[in-house]
Amino acid sequence: MTDISINFAGIKSPNPFWLASAPPTNSGYQIMKAFDAGWGGAVWKTLGMPTINVSSRYGSVNYRNIRMAGFNNIELISDRPLEDNLREIEEVKKYYPNHAVIASLMVDSREEWEAIIKEVQDAGADGIELNFGCPHGMCERGMGSAVGQEPEVLKTIVGWVMDAAKIPVITKLSPNISHITDPGLASVQGGTDAISLINTIKSIVGIDLDTYAPYPVVDGKGTNGGYCGPAVKPIAMHMLKELAQHPEIKSTPISGIGGIETWRDVVEFILLGATSVQVCTAVMHYGFGIVREMEAGLRQFMTDKGYQTIYDFAGKALPNVTEWRHLNLKYDVKAHINKEKCVGCDLCYIACDDGAHQAIKINDNDRNRIPEIIEENCVGCNLCSLVCPVEDCITMVRKDDGSQHVTWDELTLADKIPNTFNDDRAGGKGHFVPTPDDALKAKRKDRSGQNQFDF
Ligand SMILES: Cc1cc2nc3c(=O)[nH]c(=O)nc-3n(C[C@H](O)[C@H](O)[C@H](O)COP(=O)(O)O)c2cc1C
Ligand code: SF4
Ligand code: SF4
Repeated sequence: MTDISINFAGIKSPNPFWLASAPPTNSGYQIMKAFDAGWGGAVWKTLGMPTINVSSRYGSVNYRNIRMAGFNNIELISDRPLEDNLREIEEVKKYYPNHAVIASLMVDSREEWEAIIKEVQDAGADGIELNFGCPHGMCERGMGSAVGQEPEVLKTIVGWVMDAAKIPVITKLSPNISHITDPGLASVQGGTDAISLINTIKSIVGIDLDTYAPYPVVDGKGTNGGYCGPAVKPIAMHMLKELAQHPEIKSTPISGIGGIETWRDVVEFILLGATSVQVCTAVMHYGFGIVREMEAGLRQFMTDKGYQTIYDFAGKALPNVTEWRHLNLKYDVKAHINKEKCVGCDLCYIACDDGAHQAIKINDNDRNRIPEIIEENCVGCNLCSLVCPVEDCITMVRKDDGSQHVTWDELTLADKIPNTFNDDRAGGKGHFVPTPDDALKAKRKDRSGQNQFDF
């Protein structure tokens, strides 16, 4: 039997699935319901100082037929009375002593930090998460991302918190910064026990075409919101990897957040070094029940691969994420079309001809319009296989024999990089590109009814 329990910087949890600090963790009612559904931990909706929220407050990017592919909000921290939240933390911990309850906090002065840390500790929270990420409203008051974007200020505040806290401290980072390792390192230097990321990304999700106001609209006006949901997962994973590979940060436990919805997302975050994951948008969209699929899928993956614990595979993808200059320039793949599967939709042809390397031709005499790869033109970019709507119809087939391995770094060291575009060692030299003359001829041919694409 696999063991999916975790000890995250001293915070014990029956599994790595935590609710992120957000509306699903607004109250003890919701958190207890989530624990019953299978969540192992919850980061309470950020507690701090009195606020007033606006309506409306959420916006989304509906991509084609997918609703909430991206989600954004202009909500502030908890607007519920602090004493109600503290009482509910105490009650939840009484009923669920083995689940992780983490208090997310955001205040301003050192005295306020010391006071609220004592209050959540007294209420029985298992840990504290510092919200240095909120990119709207609170940052205008000098908190949230205003701290997350200033590594020196962040370090100072983490230091205050570490002096006051008796329970583990997680520093939650803002992605609204050029180099995530700057605040990451500052939090480690400030003494944090762990890091979580990402909070939301500054964004405008759309404009009302009648009122010209950005969504979500508040009486004819709007403001930038924080972007999250499936659309941000690639950004979150990159930032996670940046921290997990950094020599001075990598030994600090990281809780991964951003676009997590399925067991596969969970496994990918763990492979990149996270040892707990947090979810907000997917729960706001589908409810607490999604954790059942996450747990079943995670356990199945671990069984299939022979892993006993989360720590057996945490970070396993990191050695394979390298810099471009270390990639093998001799590795050579070309597209291959499975004619049995092809439905003749032309999408690959259009993508390659207009958007890539003119390496696919359509034989007009073929009634099924099955395209053909022109191997000598194919640079193996993947585009056709990505646009093809039929699973495994276009595959990328390795053409080199694996005997050669050369990287840009090695070429540079050996003084063998191309010096001019005419240099035989230059990458694009010899790649087929139709001349403008040929294009014109092809166009003329088309008017006379012949194959437009026969270069
Ligand atoms: C409506 C809403 C409110 C949020 N409120 C908070 C908050 O109070 N504190 C906090 O640290 N993060 C807050 N977040 C950010 C989430 O905790 C999380 O970092 C972010 O949404 C990315 O995860 P996701 O893609 O799973 O949603 C909020 C997010 C949303 C959508
Ligand atoms: S891999 Fe790229 S270049 Fe090759 S056929 Fe597909 S789209 Fe064209
Ligand atoms: S995109 Fe796929 S299905 Fe469509 S023509 Fe190309 S190979 Fe066939």
